[in-house]
Amino acid sequence: MARQEFDDSCQQKINIGLQNELTGHLNTRWAGQPVCVYDTIDSTNTECFRLAAEGAGHGTVVTAEEQTAGKGRRGRVWESPEGNNLYFSLLLRPTFAADKAPMLTLLIAMAVAEGVRRTTGLTLKIKWPNDLVLNGRKVCGILTEMRIVQKDTHTDKAAASNAPVVVIGVGVNVGYRTFPEELAAKATTLETVTGPKISRGVLLESILGAFEELYEEFIRTEDLSGCMEQYNALLVNLNREVTVLDPKGEYSGVARGINATGELLVQRSDGTVTEVFAGEVSVRGIYGYV
Ligand code: BTN
Repeated sequence: MARQEFDDSCQQKINIGLQNELTGHLNTRWAGQPVCVYDTIDSTNTECFRLAAEGAGHGTVVTAEEQTAGKGRRGRVWESPEGNNLYFSLLLRPTFAADKAPMLTLLIAMAVAEGVRRTTGLTLKIKWPNDLVLNGRKVCGILTEMRIVQKDTHTDKAAASNAPVVVIGVGVNVGYRTFPEELAAKATTLETVTGPKISRGVLLESILGAFEELYEEFIRTEDLSGCMEQYNALLVNLNREVTVLDPKGEYSGVARGINATGELLVQRSDGTVTEVFAGEVSVRGIYGYV
């Protein structure tokens, strides 16, 4: 399917009021060209893969007011009520090797922190690899998925191919809300701190703009060497003791930052440094979530 044709069919799915709110500020070059805006969708990540099979191109964004089957990491559910939150997924058709895709999660985490800073002045920290934290509580989660999307043979969409498609899904808690008891100590929202003044459209534009800048450097080097220092400066666990929940055995050490491929360097008590790969483990601060 030609790009213009796809853009037109994406437009037909759009809720105009929401579209104006969410895309009225968009001034990016390719990230968010186009944006498909839905009132309700099962999951913006799932919809991105469906659109990929129809030929949606690199940079397509899907966003929704509400998700009925929002997906979190490790098979968890991401509660996605309607209201003032930002749920979006960015579709990428990478030109680099598939094993480099996990680094994109770290890039988008930096882009969210930068987008929130530009929009609100708030400083978010990153809990490696990709949770965004505000005052010690999670304010944003990221789910990156990669699939080989089969060409849609019914419509023979030209843009579809059997190359891997990466979808990066971002859920930001924006509007003030209370959380169920089990989450109350671990989760927060941006407007809990700023008061009710955040434009989701400005926030989306700022995040996508920041991602474009980071991605362009990333495809030049195909690693995180250009932004490693920036990432480490945002790392909530930097030089703090962490517990690594490795299925092969839990251990503790001091987090020393990431390396150029995004692994967390954890220094054990005997001085040795382990490179922790995000796919296998999660990391906790020794006193709780961070
Ligand atoms: C996590 O921290 O567990 C990841 C949460 C990711 C949630 C976002 S919301 C937009 C996108 N669509 C989904 O179904 N999930 C991601």
